[in-house]
Amino acid sequence: MKNIVVLISGNGSNLQAIIDACEQKKINGTLRAVFSNKADAFGLERAREADIPAHALSASQFSSREAFDRELMQEIDAYAPDLVVLAGYMRILSPEFVAHYQGRLLNIHPSLLPKYPGLNTHRQVLDNGDEEHGTSVHFVTEQLDGGPVILQAKVPVFAGDSEEDITDRVQHQEHAIYPLVISWFIEGRLDMRDGAAWLDDVQLPAQGYAADE
Ligand code: GRF
Repeated sequence: MKNIVVLISGNGSNLQAIIDACEQKKINGTLRAVFSNKADAFGLERAREADIPAHALSASQFSSREAFDRELMQEIDAYAPDLVVLAGYMRILSPEFVAHYQGRLLNIHPSLLPKYPGLNTHRQVLDNGDEEHGTSVHFVTEQLDGGPVILQAKVPVFAGDSEEDITDRVQHQEHAIYPLVISWFIEGRLDMRDGAAWLDDVQLPAQGYAADE
C-alpha cells in the first residue's frame, strides 16, 4: 500500500473526501497522517475521528520559514510518503520543501488556472463578472499555483450568485476530482516529467485532462 500524507490549514472538507475515498477503496492507498499549521483546524478533528494521526505545528515556534519547513519535512518523512497532498494548506512553501517532494506533491486551487493564482479567487470571479469558474488539481512547483495542471472542473456562475454560492459549487467539484487524481497517482498512472503532467504516458495539455478542444 502506498502512503499518503495530507497538509491542511482549515475546515478540511477536501481531506474528508480523501478519507472517504480511502475507506471506500476508491483510493488504494493509506492515509498515514495529517498535518496542520493551525492547531484549531477542524480538519484535525476529522483526521482523529478517522483514527489518522493528526499533528499541528505552529509557525510562531520557528525562527524562519525554512526552519518550519525543515521540521515539517522531517515529521512528514517519518511516514515515508509516496504522495504529499495539500488540501487547503494556506502557507507558502520554501523552495527546499518543494524540491524535496517534487513530483509527489499535489495541490488543489479554486480557480481555472492559469486564471487567478493566489488568494480570493471567488471574489475576483464575481467582481469580473465571469460566467465560468472552477477548480484545478496540479503538481506543485516553485511557482505559486503555477505547476502543471492535471485536472480541472468547471462550474457556471449565475446572475445573483453570492461568494458562498460559488464557493459551495466549486467545493462540490473539488470533492470529486481530488480523490480521483489521487487515485491515478497511487495507481502509478500519473507523473510529472519535463515540466508537464503525464497520465498513462500521455502528456496532458495545459488545462489538464479533459481540456476543451
Ligand atoms: C479549497 O477550496 C481549496 O481549493 C483551497 O482551499 C479550500 C480548502 O477547503 N486550496 P477545505 O479546507 O478542504 O474545506
